Amino acid sequence: MRSCLLLLFIAQVAFARHRIPSPHRRTFESRDRSLDTTPPFAERALADNIAALLGAPMNSLIAGISQAATALESLGFGPPDMAGIENGLGPGQDPDAVSRLEPDASGRRAEGNLTYYFVTNDFARGIYMLKSQDLNSIFADPSSEKQIFEYDKAVGTEAPSLFEWSEGRWLIYVSSVGAEGNGSMRVLQAKSDDLWGDWEDLGEMRHANGDRLTNYDGHAFRHPNGKRYFTYSALRSVEIAELTSPTTVGRATVWASGDGERTIEAPGSFVSGQKLNIIWSENVFAQPDYNTINRAISVDDDPLDPASWRNSANVTFLRSGNGVYGPGSACVYNGPDERPWIAYSAFYMPQGFPLTENPRRVQTQPLIVYDDEIQPMAPDRPTRFLD
Ligand SMILES: *[C@@H]1O[C@H](CO)[C@@H](O)[C@H](O)[C@H]1NC(C)=O
Ligand SMILES: *[C@@H]1O[C@H](CO)[C@@H](O)[C@H](O)[C@H]1NC(C)=O
Ligand SMILES: *[C@@H]1O[C@H](CO)[C@@H](O)[C@H](O)[C@H]1NC(C)=O
Repeated sequence: MRSCLLLLFIAQVAFARHRIPSPHRRTFESRDRSLDTTPPFAERALADNIAALLGAPMNSLIAGISQAATALESLGFGPPDMAGIENGLGPGQDPDAVSRLEPDASGRRAEGNLTYYFVTNDFARGIYMLKSQDLNSIFADPSSEKQIFEYDKAVGTEAPSLFEWSEGRWLIYVSSVGAEGNGSMRVLQAKSDDLWGDWEDLGEMRHANGDRLTNYDGHAFRHPNGKRYFTYSALRSVEIAELTSPTTVGRATVWASGDGERTIEAPGSFVSGQKLNIIWSENVFAQPDYNTINRAISVDDDPLDPASWRNSANVTFLRSGNGVYGPGSACVYNGPDERPWIAYSAFYMPQGFPLTENPRRVQTQPLIVYDDEIQPMAPDRPTRFLD
């Protein structure tokens, strides 16, 4: 009897996850709640019911339900996507997104639809901005894309990442992997609040002593403690340092190091209530075992103190499933329902792909959060851009 009820609840949870209101009007006031993450109310209410029924602690229960729903979805019992998002969004990799309301004619961001921006690159000199109010066409429609910067050297642009340093002051951190890139990370700054406007090169990032900051996949975020941090991959580990200016960092701490063999890269962040979630991807991006892991620590803990990370569990929350392989290099942004969504790259060949090709696709779906921590989820089954 209990297990029957549980199955019923799990099916409902799986369905509730995808029931997203549309179209997506919102007011400017809600912008300050950026990445507001009350757990999906249906999931929470159901967990309360089940907890009462079984007398189990709710925390462990909801994680269990989330995993069971994910397992059911992987078996093909998944509900249709009620937000109307069709995965894949299109060809691409290392997605990095923000969404916001645009000012109207009088300069007020009063009402309207969210505009999505994804920053991307051509692995050579170019940096591009995708802009659209429609996630379904942002990667698919060429008119969504604009080149916003071109380096004059063989910088070898990779993994650009957007950051709003302060209100209206936008930066892009770019890894350089080209012959003249010096292996450094670089910074672009927008000349205005218009992300499709002009950008200028602020040059290479530096340590306090003036040495260039090498490594890749840089990602900046603002912590509730008021400080800004920069986290990046050193290939076999991920480091974090305080941003002391848009182009300089303080002393770095290694907060994730693997077995010295695996690639550990593409850090991203998600602050929710009392927790700082930092995600990263492991293994080779062209192989099906590429996956995405989360560690959550309290916002009261100092991210630069290795002790803060010592007891945080590694939760692999996104891995191959549903015909989607190697989901990783992810970012979190505000999606169509004004809640946090995740975007990630993946591919649709079970065997992976040779590094001479780039058949990666970008997918996006709602993030599942409970107790301010990211929960395991199954990648959405793709219906387009299959080859
Ligand atoms: C907002 O989006 C809806 C649905 O796509 C569209 O009909 C409407 O014209 C958009 N409004 C504005 C101000 O762009
Ligand atoms: C790489 O380093 C050299 C020597 O410091 C410097 O002249 C050059 O401008 C750097 N390359 C780029 C793309 O900044
Ligand atoms: C979590 O994974 C990271 C990176 O592989 C590692 O440095 C850390 O020791 C792991 N933590 C635990 C608690 O297993």
